[in-house]
Amino acid sequence: MTSPGAGAVRRRLTVATGLEWYRYRRPRFVATRVVPRLCVFVPRSPEIRVPTMTPNAPPALPAAELEAIRKAYLRPDGSIAVEALRGIDLRIPRGQYVAIMGASGSGKSTLMNILGCLDRPTSGRYRLEGEEVADLEDRALSRIRGRRIGFVFQAFNLIPELTVLENVEVPLFYQGSPRSERRDRASEILAKVGLGDRTTHRPGELSGGQQQRVAIARALVTSPAILMADEPTGNLDSATGFSILALIDELHAGGLTIIMVTHDDRIAARCERVVRLRDGVIERDERGGGSRGRDPSADPTQQLARDASSWFEPASDPSTR
Ligand SMILES: Nc1ncnc2c1ncn2[C@@H]1O[C@H](COP(=O)(O)OP(=O)(O)OP(=O)(O)O)[C@@H](O)[C@H]1O
Ligand SMILES: [Mg+2]
Repeated sequence: MTSPGAGAVRRRLTVATGLEWYRYRRPRFVATRVVPRLCVFVPRSPEIRVPTMTPNAPPALPAAELEAIRKAYLRPDGSIAVEALRGIDLRIPRGQYVAIMGASGSGKSTLMNILGCLDRPTSGRYRLEGEEVADLEDRALSRIRGRRIGFVFQAFNLIPELTVLENVEVPLFYQGSPRSERRDRASEILAKVGLGDRTTHRPGELSGGQQQRVAIARALVTSPAILMADEPTGNLDSATGFSILALIDELHAGGLTIIMVTHDDRIAARCERVVRLRDGVIERDERGGGSRGRDPSADPTQQLARDASSWFEPASDPSTR
Protein backbone atom coordinates (compact mmCIF):
# COMPACT_ATOMS: atom_id res chain seq x y z
CA MET A 1 0.00 0.00 0.00
CA THR A 2 1.35 3.43 -0.86
CA SER A 3 1.38 6.18 1.75
CA PRO A 4 -1.01 9.09 1.19
CA GLY A 5 0.54 12.53 0.68
CA ALA A 6 0.77 14.92 3.62
CA GLY A 7 -1.83 17.22 2.03
CA ALA A 8 -4.32 14.38 1.68
CA VAL A 9 -3.69 13.27 5.25
CA ARG A 10 -4.26 16.79 6.56
CA ARG A 11 -7.50 17.09 4.65
CA ARG A 12 -8.75 13.78 5.98
CA LEU A 13 -7.75 14.58 9.55
CA THR A 14 -9.74 17.79 9.24
CA VAL A 15 -12.81 16.02 7.94
CA ALA A 16 -12.49 13.24 10.48
CA THR A 17 -12.16 15.37 13.57
CA GLY A 18 -13.84 18.65 12.75
CA LEU A 19 -10.54 20.32 13.57
CA GLU A 20 -8.77 22.58 11.16
CA TRP A 21 -5.15 22.10 10.38
CA TYR A 22 -3.38 25.17 11.56
CA ARG A 23 -1.71 27.35 9.00
CA TYR A 24 1.90 27.00 9.86
CA ARG A 25 5.16 28.79 9.45
CA ARG A 26 8.03 26.38 9.19
CA PRO A 27 10.35 27.70 11.91
CA ARG A 28 7.67 27.31 14.56
CA PHE A 29 6.88 23.71 13.74
CA VAL A 30 8.72 20.50 14.00
CA ALA A 31 8.29 17.48 11.73
CA THR A 32 7.58 14.31 13.58
CA ARG A 33 6.02 10.94 12.89
CA VAL A 34 2.68 9.95 14.32
CA VAL A 35 2.83 6.54 12.70
CA PRO A 36 5.66 5.08 10.68
CA ARG A 37 4.14 5.92 7.32
CA LEU A 38 2.69 9.36 7.92
CA CYS A 39 4.90 12.39 8.31
CA VAL A 40 3.01 15.32 9.78
CA PHE A 41 3.78 18.61 11.49
CA VAL A 42 3.26 19.17 15.19
CA PRO A 43 2.66 22.79 16.17
CA ARG A 44 5.27 23.94 18.66
CA SER A 45 3.81 27.31 19.37
CA PRO A 46 2.79 27.52 23.04
CA GLU A 47 -0.09 29.81 22.09
CA ILE A 48 -2.16 26.92 20.77
CA ARG A 49 -1.72 25.00 24.01
CA VAL A 50 -4.60 26.73 25.67
CA PRO A 51 -5.41 25.58 29.17
CA THR A 52 -8.53 23.46 29.41
CA MET A 53 -11.28 25.73 30.63
CA THR A 54 -14.11 23.30 30.19
CA PRO A 55 -13.95 21.32 33.42
CA ASN A 56 -13.41 24.42 35.53
CA ALA A 57 -16.27 26.48 34.12
CA PRO A 58 -18.71 27.50 36.84
CA PRO A 59 -21.64 25.07 36.82
CA ALA A 60 -24.13 27.94 36.65
CA LEU A 61 -22.99 28.91 33.17
CA PRO A 62 -25.00 27.37 30.35
CA ALA A 63 -23.06 25.14 27.99
CA ALA A 64 -24.26 27.21 25.03
CA GLU A 65 -26.29 30.37 24.70
CA LEU A 66 -27.44 31.78 21.36
CA GLU A 67 -29.07 35.18 21.01
CA ALA A 68 -30.71 36.38 17.81
CA ILE A 69 -28.45 34.23 15.68
CA ARG A 70 -28.81 34.73 11.95
CA LYS A 71 -26.90 33.02 9.19
CA ALA A 72 -27.07 34.08 5.57
CA TYR A 73 -25.21 32.30 2.82
CA LEU A 74 -24.01 34.88 0.34
CA ARG A 75 -23.52 34.84 -3.40
CA PRO A 76 -20.10 35.80 -4.77
CA ASP A 77 -21.42 39.33 -5.42
CA GLY A 78 -22.30 39.69 -1.71
CA SER A 79 -26.06 39.43 -2.09
CA ILE A 80 -27.94 37.03 0.18
CA ALA A 81 -28.57 33.66 -1.45
CA VAL A 82 -30.23 31.88 1.49
CA GLU A 83 -31.15 32.97 5.00
CA ALA A 84 -30.57 29.62 6.67
CA LEU A 85 -31.11 30.88 10.25
CA ARG A 86 -33.40 33.81 10.94
CA GLY A 87 -33.11 34.72 14.62
CA ILE A 88 -32.35 31.75 16.88
CA ASP A 89 -32.52 32.18 20.65
CA LEU A 90 -31.43 29.05 22.45
CA ARG A 91 -29.99 28.35 25.88
CA ILE A 92 -28.62 24.89 26.53
CA PRO A 93 -27.79 24.22 30.19
CA ARG A 94 -24.77 22.12 31.03
CA GLY A 95 -25.54 18.42 31.06
CA GLN A 96 -28.66 18.67 28.90
CA TYR A 97 -29.41 16.11 26.17
CA VAL A 98 -30.98 17.98 23.25
CA ALA A 99 -32.31 16.75 19.93
CA ILE A 100 -32.38 19.14 16.97
CA MET A 101 -35.09 18.15 14.50
CA GLY A 102 -36.72 19.63 11.43
CA ALA A 103 -37.39 19.03 7.77
CA SER A 104 -34.60 18.94 5.24
CA GLY A 105 -33.33 22.47 4.64
CA SER A 106 -34.73 23.82 7.92
CA GLY A 107 -31.25 24.81 9.14
CA LYS A 108 -30.19 21.94 11.43
CA SER A 109 -26.69 21.52 10.02
CA THR A 110 -26.21 25.28 9.85
CA LEU A 111 -27.16 25.52 13.52
CA MET A 112 -24.91 22.60 14.45
CA ASN A 113 -22.02 24.18 12.56
CA ILE A 114 -22.42 27.37 14.55
CA LEU A 115 -22.89 25.56 17.87
CA GLY A 116 -19.83 23.45 17.07
CA CYS A 117 -17.74 26.52 16.16
CA LEU A 118 -17.26 25.19 12.63
CA ASP A 119 -18.88 28.33 11.25
CA ARG A 120 -19.70 31.84 12.40
CA PRO A 121 -23.11 33.46 12.41
CA THR A 122 -23.79 36.48 10.21
CA SER A 123 -25.12 38.29 13.27
CA GLY A 124 -26.12 37.55 16.85
CA ARG A 125 -24.28 36.42 19.94
CA TYR A 126 -23.00 32.98 20.86
CA ARG A 127 -21.53 32.27 24.28
CA LEU A 128 -19.92 28.89 24.77
CA GLU A 129 -19.62 28.26 28.51
CA GLY A 130 -19.87 31.98 29.02
CA GLU A 131 -17.23 32.93 26.49
CA GLU A 132 -18.29 35.03 23.52
CA VAL A 133 -17.24 33.12 20.42
CA ALA A 134 -19.41 34.50 17.60
CA ASP A 135 -16.75 36.92 16.40
CA LEU A 136 -13.58 34.93 16.98
CA GLU A 137 -11.22 34.50 14.09
CA ASP A 138 -10.61 31.07 12.57
CA ARG A 139 -7.61 30.11 14.58
CA ALA A 140 -9.14 30.96 17.94
CA LEU A 141 -12.37 29.22 16.94
CA SER A 142 -10.39 26.15 15.98
CA ARG A 143 -8.67 26.06 19.38
CA ILE A 144 -11.94 26.30 21.23
CA ARG A 145 -13.45 23.60 19.06
CA GLY A 146 -10.53 21.28 19.71
CA ARG A 147 -10.79 21.64 23.46
CA ARG A 148 -14.46 21.93 24.18
CA ILE A 149 -16.40 20.10 21.53
CA GLY A 150 -16.41 16.49 20.40
CA PHE A 151 -17.98 15.55 17.08
CA VAL A 152 -19.61 12.32 16.00
CA PHE A 153 -20.86 12.05 12.44
CA GLN A 154 -23.17 9.69 10.61
CA ALA A 155 -20.22 8.45 8.54
CA PHE A 156 -17.69 7.45 11.16
CA ASN A 157 -14.90 9.39 9.41
CA LEU A 158 -12.14 7.21 10.78
CA ILE A 159 -8.80 7.18 9.00
CA PRO A 160 -8.40 3.73 7.47
CA GLU A 161 -4.59 3.72 7.47
CA LEU A 162 -4.41 4.37 11.21
CA THR A 163 -5.07 1.82 13.92
CA VAL A 164 -7.98 2.25 16.28
CA LEU A 165 -5.62 3.61 18.93
CA GLU A 166 -4.01 6.08 16.52
CA ASN A 167 -7.42 7.30 15.34
CA VAL A 168 -8.37 8.13 18.91
CA GLU A 169 -5.04 9.85 19.47
CA VAL A 170 -5.55 12.30 16.58
CA PRO A 171 -7.24 15.15 18.54
CA LEU A 172 -4.55 14.96 21.23
CA PHE A 173 -1.94 15.04 18.53
CA TYR A 174 -3.43 18.32 17.30
CA GLN A 175 -3.09 19.68 20.80
CA GLY A 176 0.57 18.74 20.96
CA SER A 177 0.17 16.20 23.76
CA PRO A 178 3.22 14.04 24.37
CA ARG A 179 3.15 10.63 22.76
CA SER A 180 3.00 8.64 25.99
CA GLU A 181 0.10 10.71 27.27
CA ARG A 182 -1.73 10.27 23.96
CA ARG A 183 -1.31 6.51 24.13
CA ASP A 184 -2.43 6.25 27.75
CA ARG A 185 -5.47 8.42 27.37
CA ALA A 186 -6.61 6.84 24.09
CA SER A 187 -6.18 3.35 25.56
CA GLU A 188 -8.14 4.32 28.65
CA ILE A 189 -11.06 5.69 26.70
CA LEU A 190 -11.12 2.80 24.25
CA ALA A 191 -11.33 0.42 27.20
CA LYS A 192 -14.26 2.43 28.52
CA VAL A 193 -16.20 2.12 25.27
CA GLY A 194 -15.53 -1.63 25.27
CA LEU A 195 -12.80 -1.74 22.65
CA GLY A 196 -9.75 -2.26 24.81
CA ASP A 197 -8.93 -5.44 22.90
CA ARG A 198 -9.14 -3.83 19.44
CA THR A 199 -6.60 -1.05 19.72
CA THR A 200 -4.25 -2.43 17.06
CA HIS A 201 -6.98 -3.17 14.52
CA ARG A 202 -7.69 -0.97 11.51
CA PRO A 203 -11.18 0.54 11.19
CA GLY A 204 -11.90 -1.76 8.22
CA GLU A 205 -11.57 -4.74 10.53
CA LEU A 206 -14.37 -3.54 12.81
CA SER A 207 -18.16 -3.67 12.59
CA GLY A 208 -20.11 -0.46 11.99
CA GLY A 209 -21.09 -0.22 15.65
CA GLN A 210 -17.51 -0.73 16.76
CA GLN A 211 -16.34 1.95 14.34
CA GLN A 212 -18.85 4.38 15.76
CA ARG A 213 -17.58 3.54 19.26
CA VAL A 214 -14.09 4.42 18.09
CA ALA A 215 -15.46 7.71 16.73
CA ILE A 216 -17.12 8.41 20.07
CA ALA A 217 -13.88 7.61 21.92
CA ARG A 218 -12.06 10.01 19.58
CA ALA A 219 -14.66 12.70 20.27
CA LEU A 220 -14.25 12.27 24.02
CA VAL A 221 -10.51 11.94 24.30
CA THR A 222 -10.03 15.69 24.86
CA SER A 223 -12.66 15.77 27.63
CA PRO A 224 -15.02 18.11 25.78
CA ALA A 225 -17.92 19.87 27.43
CA ILE A 226 -20.28 19.15 24.56
CA LEU A 227 -20.71 16.12 22.35
CA MET A 228 -22.29 17.04 19.01
CA ALA A 229 -23.72 14.15 17.05
CA ASP A 230 -25.18 14.42 13.56
CA GLU A 231 -27.38 11.36 12.91
CA PRO A 232 -24.90 9.10 14.75
CA THR A 233 -26.95 5.96 14.12
CA GLY A 234 -27.86 6.79 10.51
CA ASN A 235 -25.48 4.19 9.06
CA LEU A 236 -26.25 1.44 11.57
CA ASP A 237 -28.87 -1.29 11.79
CA SER A 238 -31.40 -0.74 14.55
CA ALA A 239 -29.85 -3.13 17.11
CA THR A 240 -26.38 -1.62 16.69
CA GLY A 241 -27.85 1.87 16.63
CA PHE A 242 -29.56 1.10 19.92
CA SER A 243 -26.27 0.13 21.55
CA ILE A 244 -24.72 3.40 20.40
CA LEU A 245 -27.69 5.34 21.78
CA ALA A 246 -27.30 3.44 25.05
CA LEU A 247 -23.66 4.49 25.17
CA ILE A 248 -24.66 8.13 24.52
CA ASP A 249 -27.28 7.85 27.28
CA GLU A 250 -24.60 6.68 29.66
CA LEU A 251 -22.28 9.51 28.71
CA HIS A 252 -25.11 11.93 29.32
CA ALA A 253 -25.74 10.38 32.71
CA GLY A 254 -22.04 10.94 33.42
CA GLY A 255 -22.49 14.69 32.94
CA LEU A 256 -21.82 15.35 29.27
CA THR A 257 -23.91 17.90 27.36
CA ILE A 258 -25.22 16.25 24.20
CA ILE A 259 -26.66 17.93 21.11
CA MET A 260 -27.87 15.53 18.47
CA VAL A 261 -29.40 16.11 15.05
CA THR A 262 -31.89 13.39 14.22
CA HIS A 263 -34.82 12.75 11.93
CA ASP A 264 -36.07 9.89 14.08
CA ASP A 265 -38.82 10.60 16.62
CA ARG A 266 -37.91 7.44 18.55
CA ILE A 267 -34.40 8.73 19.05
CA ALA A 268 -35.62 12.20 19.97
CA ALA A 269 -37.85 10.58 22.58
CA ARG A 270 -34.72 9.54 24.48
CA CYS A 271 -33.59 13.17 24.77
CA GLU A 272 -34.56 15.58 27.51
CA ARG A 273 -35.42 18.33 25.08
CA VAL A 274 -36.46 18.51 21.44
CA VAL A 275 -35.84 21.70 19.44
CA ARG A 276 -37.70 21.72 16.13
CA LEU A 277 -36.57 24.05 13.37
CA ARG A 278 -38.64 25.28 10.48
CA ASP A 279 -37.33 27.61 7.79
CA GLY A 280 -34.49 28.83 9.97
CA VAL A 281 -36.46 29.58 13.12
CA ILE A 282 -37.34 27.52 16.17
CA GLU A 283 -40.83 26.26 15.60
CA ARG A 284 -41.13 24.33 18.86
CA ASP A 285 -38.94 23.79 21.91
CA GLU A 286 -40.31 21.06 24.10
CA ARG A 287 -39.38 18.50 26.68
CA GLY A 288 -38.54 15.08 25.33
CA GLY A 289 -39.20 11.77 26.99
CA GLY A 290 -35.64 11.25 28.23
CA SER A 291 -34.90 11.30 31.92
CA ARG A 292 -33.63 14.47 33.52
CA GLY A 293 -31.07 14.58 36.26
CA ARG A 294 -30.67 10.83 36.30
CA ASP A 295 -28.54 9.45 39.11
CA PRO A 296 -26.13 6.98 37.54
CA SER A 297 -25.27 5.47 40.89
CA ALA A 298 -28.85 4.26 41.15
CA ASP A 299 -28.35 1.91 38.23
CA PRO A 300 -25.71 -0.79 38.70
CA THR A 301 -25.45 -1.30 34.93
CA GLN A 302 -24.15 2.24 34.43
CA GLN A 303 -20.54 1.66 35.30
CA LEU A 304 -19.48 3.49 32.15
CA ALA A 305 -21.43 6.55 33.17
CA ARG A 306 -19.68 6.62 36.53
CA ASP A 307 -16.37 6.16 34.79
CA ALA A 308 -17.28 8.83 32.28
CA SER A 309 -17.68 11.46 34.96
CA SER A 310 -14.01 10.98 35.81
CA TRP A 311 -13.10 11.78 32.22
CA PHE A 312 -14.03 15.36 32.83
CA GLU A 313 -11.41 15.99 35.46
CA PRO A 314 -9.26 19.00 34.59
CA ALA A 315 -6.59 17.97 32.13
CA SER A 316 -3.16 19.27 32.97
CA ASP A 317 -1.85 21.99 30.73
CA PRO A 318 0.61 20.41 28.28
CA SER A 319 2.63 23.63 28.20
CA THR A 320 3.62 23.04 31.79
CA ARG A 321 5.24 19.72 30.97
N1 LIG B 1 -22.96 26.61 1.81
C1 LIG B 1 -24.21 26.97 1.51
N2 LIG B 1 -24.46 27.91 0.58
C2 LIG B 1 -25.71 28.31 0.30
N3 LIG B 1 -26.80 27.81 0.89
C3 LIG B 1 -26.63 26.86 1.82
C4 LIG B 1 -25.34 26.38 2.18
N4 LIG B 1 -25.47 25.44 3.15
C5 LIG B 1 -26.80 25.33 3.36
N5 LIG B 1 -27.49 26.17 2.59
C6 LIG B 1 -28.94 26.37 2.57
O1 LIG B 1 -29.33 26.72 3.88
C7 LIG B 1 -30.56 26.08 4.23
C8 LIG B 1 -30.36 25.25 5.47
O2 LIG B 1 -29.46 24.20 5.15
P1 LIG B 1 -29.02 23.09 6.22
O3 LIG B 1 -27.96 22.29 5.59
O4 LIG B 1 -28.72 23.76 7.49
O5 LIG B 1 -30.37 22.23 6.36
P2 LIG B 1 -30.64 20.88 7.19
O6 LIG B 1 -31.79 21.16 8.08
O7 LIG B 1 -29.38 20.42 7.79
O8 LIG B 1 -31.10 19.88 6.03
P3 LIG B 1 -30.87 18.28 5.90
O9 LIG B 1 -31.84 17.63 6.84
O10 LIG B 1 -31.22 18.02 4.47
O11 LIG B 1 -29.45 17.99 6.21
C9 LIG B 1 -30.97 25.27 3.00
O12 LIG B 1 -31.90 26.02 2.26
C10 LIG B 1 -29.69 25.11 2.24
O13 LIG B 1 -29.94 25.00 0.85
MG1 LIG C 1 -28.13 18.72 7.46
